Amino acid sequence: MPANSFVENAWYVAGRSNEFPVNQPKGLKIANRPVLVWRTADNKVQSFDDRCVHKRMPLSEGTIQPDGVLECAYHGFCYDAKGQCVRIPSQLDLPIPTRAKLRPFPCLEQDGLVWVWPGDPAKIGDMTAPPTPEIAEWHTHMFDPIQVPANYILLIENLMDITHFYPLHDGNIGDLEQSKIPFEIVEEKLNGVDTVKTVRKAQNYKQPPFFVEWFGYPVVDRWHTHHMVSPALTRVELRVAPPGKLGNAPDERGYVIHHAHTPIDAVSHTWRLWVSTKSEKLTREISKTFPQVMDEDLWALERQQKYMEYPDDGYHEVYLRSDKALLRARKILSEMEKGNARSSVSVVSVPERV
Ligand code: FES
Ligand SMILES: [Fe+2]
Repeated sequence: MPANSFVENAWYVAGRSNEFPVNQPKGLKIANRPVLVWRTADNKVQSFDDRCVHKRMPLSEGTIQPDGVLECAYHGFCYDAKGQCVRIPSQLDLPIPTRAKLRPFPCLEQDGLVWVWPGDPAKIGDMTAPPTPEIAEWHTHMFDPIQVPANYILLIENLMDITHFYPLHDGNIGDLEQSKIPFEIVEEKLNGVDTVKTVRKAQNYKQPPFFVEWFGYPVVDRWHTHHMVSPALTRVELRVAPPGKLGNAPDERGYVIHHAHTPIDAVSHTWRLWVSTKSEKLTREISKTFPQVMDEDLWALERQQKYMEYPDDGYHEVYLRSDKALLRARKILSEMEKGNARSSVSVVSVPERV
């Protein structure tokens, strides 16, 4: 049960583009590393080890100087947009030491998100950050990020097995009938990684209250998918229409919800989710009531993680047919971890590379 580790060689969401204004460097902890994200004056997002090469002061506490360099708040080492130390105020008469350069993290901006690769850059290969075009093309509401005191895999598992809608979300988005809907599993390689998706198709489904409020149909045909697109992202797509009308554009309603699960460390992650629909009003309505659902999931994840602290001592999980997709997700993630040059245990103690 890999609930005490994470894949380090993956693209992870560092935040939404607008969380990184020009020349306001931000310090984050991603995959147990101190990560500096800095949108430099040329509007490009850069990422570096957040530790000053001098005495480990977080550079995210530093200030941008009139000549555009980032000055460490402690003894004033100054770094340019490439992470090169270009000035040391206390010894301007001597050359800059050759190792006075920040370790860069691969970083990119795409579809309104900033992505960082916290692992070994040599392992990127054909892995690309998954596209999220709905952010720009549909009406999207992004909830404030949540720091979840649980390993990120617990959120992924929550999404890959939605039989928890009863009882955890009973009366808002869930009911027992939903948990009985059969599902298919689709596996495919996308953006250089293995992915797993559940597909649930239901007919004449009596919708729980929130779905009736949002979409207006008491009884629907429904198409519902949960797709672990990468260690970083799970995409949920829901389409409903009155019975017999699914696929008929004027009648069909639905949403896409992306869940970005970025490990902070082995026992916590940042959960960012955003809902996208084709109607501004619908997105607004969902954004008002969905936090109740998120709170319920958060409540469960916190408790599960606490109980991970006990040694198994003869305990083992029981698997149901509904666990099939999450077991596949676990396998994909553990294979990705094994593919790492370093084990998940050594992640904690690996010093910065020079
Ligand atoms: S710790 Fe940054 S200049 Fe000394
Ligand atoms: Fe949930």
